[in-house]
Amino acid sequence: MQEQDLTPMMRQYHAVKQETPDALLLFRLGDFYELFFDDAVTASRELEITLTARNKERDNPVPMCGVPYHAADGYIARLLRKGYKVAICDQMEAPQKGAKLVKREVTRVITPGTVTDTNVLSPGENNFLLAITDTTDGDGQLGCAFLDISTGELRVSQFAGAERWNRLLLDVEHFSPREVLFPEKMKSMLNRIADDVAKTPLDDWLFDMDYAGRVLREQFGTATLDGFGLGGKSAAVGASGAMIHYVRQTQKTTLEHITSLSYSESADYLILDAATIRNLELFESSSGDTKDTLLGVINRTRTGMGARLLRNWIVRPSIDASEIECRFDAVAELTASAVALEETRTSFEGMLDLERLLSKITIGTASPRELAALRASVARLPAIGAVLNRLKARRFTELLDRLDLLADVSELLTTSISDEPPYALADGGVIREGYNPELDELRSLSKNSKTYLASVEARERERTGISSLKVRFNKVFGYYIEISKANLRLAPSDYDRKQTLVGAERFVTPELKEYEEKILTAEEKILEIEKNLFQQIRNRIAEEARRIRQTAAAIAEFDVLASFAATAQRFNYSRPQISTGDEFVVRKGRHAVIEALAEQHRADRFVPNDLFMNDSTDQILIVTGPNMGGKSTFLRQNALLVILAQMGSFVPAQLMRFPIVDRIFTRIGASDNLARGRSTFMVEMTETAIILNSATPKSLIILDEIGRGTATFDGLSIAWAVIEHIQANIRAKTIFATHYHELTELADLLPGIKNHHVAVKEAHNRIVFLRTVEPGAADRSYGIE
Ligand SMILES: Nc1ncnc2c1ncn2[C@@H]1O[C@H](COP(=O)(O)OP(=O)(O)OP(=O)(O)O)[C@@H](O)[C@H]1O
Ligand SMILES: [Mg+2]
Repeated sequence: MQEQDLTPMMRQYHAVKQETPDALLLFRLGDFYELFFDDAVTASRELEITLTARNKERDNPVPMCGVPYHAADGYIARLLRKGYKVAICDQMEAPQKGAKLVKREVTRVITPGTVTDTNVLSPGENNFLLAITDTTDGDGQLGCAFLDISTGELRVSQFAGAERWNRLLLDVEHFSPREVLFPEKMKSMLNRIADDVAKTPLDDWLFDMDYAGRVLREQFGTATLDGFGLGGKSAAVGASGAMIHYVRQTQKTTLEHITSLSYSESADYLILDAATIRNLELFESSSGDTKDTLLGVINRTRTGMGARLLRNWIVRPSIDASEIECRFDAVAELTASAVALEETRTSFEGMLDLERLLSKITIGTASPRELAALRASVARLPAIGAVLNRLKARRFTELLDRLDLLADVSELLTTSISDEPPYALADGGVIREGYNPELDELRSLSKNSKTYLASVEARERERTGISSLKVRFNKVFGYYIEISKANLRLAPSDYDRKQTLVGAERFVTPELKEYEEKILTAEEKILEIEKNLFQQIRNRIAEEARRIRQTAAAIAEFDVLASFAATAQRFNYSRPQISTGDEFVVRKGRHAVIEALAEQHRADRFVPNDLFMNDSTDQILIVTGPNMGGKSTFLRQNALLVILAQMGSFVPAQLMRFPIVDRIFTRIGASDNLARGRSTFMVEMTETAIILNSATPKSLIILDEIGRGTATFDGLSIAWAVIEHIQANIRAKTIFATHYHELTELADLLPGIKNHHVAVKEAHNRIVFLRTVEPGAADRSYGIE
């Protein structure tokens, strides 16, 4: 299409579209956001809305579709969930009468990784945006930055060496980012990241240390990045700087809520890799639901921020014994007193997601309702503080210190925002009476106009002696005085004649004109003032972002600890003991999820089991027994116990004493893994290789039926070789379930290997599963295959 053929509006459209070619452009036209050309075709298909055309009568009609602007949020949310980017182009001035083109600008670009709208986000989950880059100097450094724009949380890492991609993929698994930013030059490597993560290439130079470093220093207002541990970390700086650049560009704001970043290099937490998170069904069960999972069973949090923190603690349990003990002490205090626990959990009622509210405030999209929601939540803080104040554990004292009651924020919101503000500013009534004198005066003006006019009417009747004189309003010339023909001679000379009717004349006076000005502009002015005040208030709250976030984090932790206590009470969990020795001892341990399920379905009670391991005589346990005997359950149950304990939670066991574990690996062989449908042998071998490369003597390895997916002989020799290798070289505690009875011979050949079996008994020619795990190899006769 020739440029000169375009209407001015379409020319404007094309100019705007060029700024954000890869986003669907929602172009504001009156009460609608319209999409044109290919965008319209895509949107009409994805949103199931009618595709029409502009300039239908011409040769080259333009495909078009639109959504009403007041309902746009829902449509935008749907596009984002499908992985599209959306650019919002708004009218920057009120439409004028006449043909002048309204000024329009892109006010925001929303991408799957930069959403802050609570309609799109699920409350218990973070919505991470990932940026990665690599440097080719030396042996290569991979930098990555994870940002949750809705909470302002920014985590940065840099990995080196051959394992660097594996480390990155581990983090990707933990944080499940929705979108990944990367320099153009890395395009070919992006297939390592799952398809459902939106991929956004950026110019290479954005990731340069010089540029990215400047962006970061500017963001944090510091002269150097050394304080963050980023000195000389060019890949980490590159990734985080490019990320901030991108978010600023798309959000069109300064991102005041991103006030800090946390840098970590080596893992300072218990590492669970992707396969382990899956195998142990921490967040998703094998049937795909979220209920029958560790999170589903233990989550008793009451706030959105608490739920998110719990999730983070599950994927990243601590390895710091004193931190874990500190959490245990807190949980112990709450479990000891039903009253304290109840008080604690009640204090969270009405507490909304402060972190997410805050980010909408700092980004400038918070509505009046959301400020009212913040007010309601802030009003809960004193109660939470009072509860914390009564608790004794050190962690609670620390949380109390971190909990800022935000009295000033509360005061500001209470005095300024009306009790029940409307959702949209334009509806008026957002600002409370008594907050701003000018606003109050204008409001009373418009409210009292009737009485005022009646008083003018009464006065003029008296002055003129015309008892039928009326003061009225019409759209054509506003306020007027009407006098019937019969009384015309009595009209005073300061009346200015405006209109002659059959039986009457209409006049205006300077006083009425002035009044009219005031009234007609009052409504407009009221909205204008409300809008300005609202923005001022929102900005003042945004300035307190750091304090609000700190408070939110304190509440999140309090909530998680209370959730631990509630779960402990509910299922009768006990406090684990961390030992500095090498013994891992469990008495009457249970599988957290299966136990809860059994109770729910009133099935047979879960049969508790014991465990004893150490680094010398009982380093590797080989568990045999018949199909369906309970081997896999026993293995997973012990891994779950370690995860729970290192999160700081109590555990489903009568007693648990264990040394801190640095990594948990679980590999499940073919029979339990068939559904995945990949070449099982290959998968098993690569996964097993990863374990053998990265496990340490402090790791816990769970191997379930490794080797089953292969021809019998190969499988057996692989399993045999793996155990020998672990026994001789890795020295990690390992529980190995197998149907290869031959493996039980290892116990006689090598030190540190013990046989166990799941017990069964025969009754009336039927096998009865006892579900207990006992010393010694299984009896061959019970159909192990
Ligand atoms: N201690 C227990 N108490 C009660 N039920 C249990 C217990 N352990 C396992 N079960 C139940 O027994 C069934 C079989 O358990 P599991 O899958 O662990 O057996 P398995 O020995 O690994 O079997 P396979 O050889 O087929 O892999 C499951 O439904 C599980 O819920
Ligand atoms: Mg099994």
